[in-house]
Amino acid sequence: MYNFVVKSRVNDYSVSFIDSTYETLKAEIKIGDYIIIDNNIIKLYPNIFDKILTETKFIAINATEPQKSYEGIIPIIRQLIETGFKKNNRLIAIGGGITQDVTAFISSILYRGVPWIFFPTTLLAQGDSCIGSKTSINFGDFKNQVGGFYPPSSIYIDLNFLDTLKEMDLKSGLGEMCHYFIVSSEEDFRWYKKEYPKALREKEILTQMISRSLAIKKSYIEIDEYDQKERQVFNYGHSFGHAIESLTQYRIPHGIAVSYGMDMANYISVKLGFIHKEIRQEIKELLEQIWAGTSLTDISLEKFKSALSKDKKNVGNELRLILNKGYGKIFKEALQMDEKFTLWMDEYFTNVLK
Ligand SMILES: NC(=O)c1ccc[n+]([C@@H]2O[C@H](COP(=O)([O-])OP(=O)(O)OC[C@H]3O[C@@H](n4cnc5c(N)ncnc54)[C@H](O)[C@@H]3O)[C@@H](O)[C@H]2O)c1
Ligand SMILES: [Zn+2]
Repeated sequence: MYNFVVKSRVNDYSVSFIDSTYETLKAEIKIGDYIIIDNNIIKLYPNIFDKILTETKFIAINATEPQKSYEGIIPIIRQLIETGFKKNNRLIAIGGGITQDVTAFISSILYRGVPWIFFPTTLLAQGDSCIGSKTSINFGDFKNQVGGFYPPSSIYIDLNFLDTLKEMDLKSGLGEMCHYFIVSSEEDFRWYKKEYPKALREKEILTQMISRSLAIKKSYIEIDEYDQKERQVFNYGHSFGHAIESLTQYRIPHGIAVSYGMDMANYISVKLGFIHKEIRQEIKELLEQIWAGTSLTDISLEKFKSALSKDKKNVGNELRLILNKGYGKIFKEALQMDEKFTLWMDEYFTNVLK
């Protein structure tokens, strides 16, 4: 019912909501295909995968940030080449955003490009990262530095996987999806905020959220797949969020870091007179539920500013931040990291984070 197709400059791709990964996978696999799968998924779902993995070649990976690097992908590429994987065969990724990025990156460079298919198993991957074509891997300590745009040919979303996700990972997905609703419109945000408490319990609500989140993202990536202009508003919360992720060594998952980041962007937007403080407050009431149970008290302002100044989107000494002029009016702004900015961030660290 919610199935759709995304138009891409590389190849159009389909997104289908499914009930049985076992049935879909069995029907999809062709001779020569290779599965790249998260080790945790093999352990958690033996009744889906035990049999399939005796019949199909596979590589199991650990979903960690170091795995998502040149060093991490070398043994995978070696195994694929040495065991006869060919250009017309397909890689089938089964896991979250890490498994996705590893598989997408390899697919984009191996033999100058091989087709790949994706079964996302985290909420973040189902409600956001599965579409949009991005393929970055990390370089040393620097996150998502090397990559391109290379979508799969098909994506199959099975919400049954979400039953085993840890609460932090569910919240991370909810935080990541939230930014699409604020970027989209007041109506979308109000709906998301109202339904949020039910989302953790009711699959139908969660399906609608995932579907709407992907529909909003689709409308931007189809006009700006390569992130040159319109799509950049989805960096809302992300410059601050990436600084939080790296300073906490990824203890705070991506979507939760982005939730803090959206509130920081809103705080600066209030200070600059772009929004009334009531709007920030309305959004914060939701974001607080997402980041509840986490703390940033171990991050110092100096380290935070230094991490922010290294954001790859900055130009020269200027920050390029995505700020808020109201629901549906998220926009990009150039800002100096001057005394005023430092004072505001200091206030934020003292009053909000402590
Ligand atoms: N390519 C993109 O557009 C894009 C967008 C956003 C984020 N990302 C990347 O995605 C990564 C984060 O991805 P993520 O949060 O989806 O997860 P992940 O792949 O890091 O997995 C998070 C944890 O959940 C486990 N897991 C996965 N599925 C599970 C399930 N069904 N039940 C229980 N545990 C499960 C994993 O083993 C891991 O421990 C980051 O590296 C980020 O940079 C990529
Ligand atoms: Zn994100």
